[in-house]
Amino acid sequence: MFNTMTITKTAGALIGSLLSLLLLFWAGSALFHVGASEGHAEGEGHAQAYTIPVEDAGGGGEAAAEEQIDFGALLAAADPAKGEKVFGKCKACHKIDGSDGTGPHLNGVVGRPVASVSGFNYDDAMKEHAAEAPEWTPEALQAFLADPKGIVPGTKMSFAGLPKPEDRADLIAFLQTQN
Ligand code: HEC
Repeated sequence: MFNTMTITKTAGALIGSLLSLLLLFWAGSALFHVGASEGHAEGEGHAQAYTIPVEDAGGGGEAAAEEQIDFGALLAAADPAKGEKVFGKCKACHKIDGSDGTGPHLNGVVGRPVASVSGFNYDDAMKEHAAEAPEWTPEALQAFLADPKGIVPGTKMSFAGLPKPEDRADLIAFLQTQN
């Protein structure tokens, strides 16, 4: 079945495709280098010369812009009635009548010192957070609620977060009415 010719041909084809891959790769990195040398002022090595521009052009800038939502404006336009509905997602763990459940009561939470409900057993993560960011300002609350585990790594609050800034604003507007 396999005569020398077949083997030679197969090997040839393999080497051929490897070679074209190599060529593609080389062409690709050559392109990168050209692009990079235009835009690179501080980068020192080649490796940096092409990672830095890619990061700049990609998510970095946009994500930062998205993070910088004008939360004050959102909150000013927020609707506490809608926020009461959003609070439905918190009710399993939080009450607003001054008693604690799985989580501490949330009436009066806006402007309250972090981890300050006496008798509630906060975990170390939340206590440590209190040392860094002592008060639940609307801004601090909205950042926490966007990504609880990102803002307070290790918190025992098992809640994925409220991705929509409008939901966070409505909810905080509602909580402001619960003092
Ligand atoms: C699965 C239960 C659960 C859900 C759902 C939940 N939480 Fe929590 N929450 C907790 C626990 C537990 C803590 C205490 C966390 C700690 O000690 O790290 C907490 C802590 C908090 C704190 C800090 C309070 C303080 O006194 O410092 C805030 C603010 C908060 N939650 C808001 C919310 C809001 C708003 C929602 C709904 C969008 C929500 N949580 C949903 C369980 C929950």
